[in-house]
Amino acid sequence: MKILLTGCAGMVGTEFTRQFPKDPAFEYLPLPEFDVTQKDNVREIFRTLRPAVVVHLAAITDVDGCEKNPADCLKVNVEATRTVANASQAIGALMVYPSTFYIYPGEKDSPYDERYDAIDPKKIVGVYSRSKWEGEEAVRSVKDLKHLIVRFGALFGGGSRDKKFVAKVIGLVKSGQKTIQMVNDRVIQPTYVKDTVLNLMAVIRQGGAGTFNMVGKGQATYFEYARAILEFSGVHGVEVVPIASQDFKENAPRPKNLTAVNGRLAELGWDRMRDWKVALKEYLEDYKEELWNEKVRVN
Ligand SMILES: NC(=O)c1ccc[n+]([C@@H]2O[C@H](COP(=O)([O-])OP(=O)(O)OC[C@H]3O[C@@H](n4cnc5c(N)ncnc54)[C@H](OP(=O)(O)O)[C@@H]3O)[C@@H](O)[C@H]2O)c1
Repeated sequence: MKILLTGCAGMVGTEFTRQFPKDPAFEYLPLPEFDVTQKDNVREIFRTLRPAVVVHLAAITDVDGCEKNPADCLKVNVEATRTVANASQAIGALMVYPSTFYIYPGEKDSPYDERYDAIDPKKIVGVYSRSKWEGEEAVRSVKDLKHLIVRFGALFGGGSRDKKFVAKVIGLVKSGQKTIQMVNDRVIQPTYVKDTVLNLMAVIRQGGAGTFNMVGKGQATYFEYARAILEFSGVHGVEVVPIASQDFKENAPRPKNLTAVNGRLAELGWDRMRDWKVALKEYLEDYKEELWNEKVRVN
């Protein structure tokens, strides 16, 4: 099955390009990154290459940046998603759209199943999360478009190209910090991008359609997450100090207690997502050289 990625140089795209060669079901169409806001160009590329599956990864994912510049965020995350959806429908391709568990408002005490149908867009917290919801709606609104919407957890992975939480914590240690402050009153679901991509490839192969949650098992506060990163990396002599989110400077508001369950995946017997700690340990071991890039000296 011919598969085309938009935003292929990002974290998820990089992992896809690592995993494709291991799976003969997919014929990956390697293409340099193309600007998804260029409607005519997108249509032309799709018409020429005729992929059976389009995985639309191109997005503005800097959550604080989206808050500062909502117009750019909406142009890429919503308008360009509509463009990709229309172009996919025109050639009869399956469109795969990665969304986020942050589209849930976080007002419940229990985890969100993807069939939770009381989503009020006005209650979604932050510009980035709202843009991903509007992207979902844009996909669902295109008549006769075959689609698969997958709501990811907070991803980690990428090795030397990691720009996210794991790399930030390691960066603080490398810079010589002995004390790291981390929010301890906000819960997330850390999720390994490798597990996500492998699970997603399996769902595409099995003909999955509609909307799925795809998050790692278990949950953690940022404080617990940072402590696990240091423990699994064998770092000693650096203290992680818990703080309240109100004492942490950031631009984008974030929900406090957000957890989801892979309800549909579990029912179909397709849930391959692992416990976040097991997956994190593997990531830190497999990418030790790339992430640390030098001998760690912390005493
Ligand atoms: N990472 C997560 O924790 C997470 C969680 C939930 C959902 N998701 C979703 O998963 C998808 C992939 O995320 P990711 O982590 O791989 O993000 P990423 O690393 O930021 O990659 C996104 C890619 O899209 C590119 N891009 C931005 N604007 C573009 C445009 N106009 N045309 C073409 N490409 C453009 C970016 O290029 P530049 O770097 O040059 O801007 C980047 O290469 C996104 O839809 C994201 O919303 C991610």
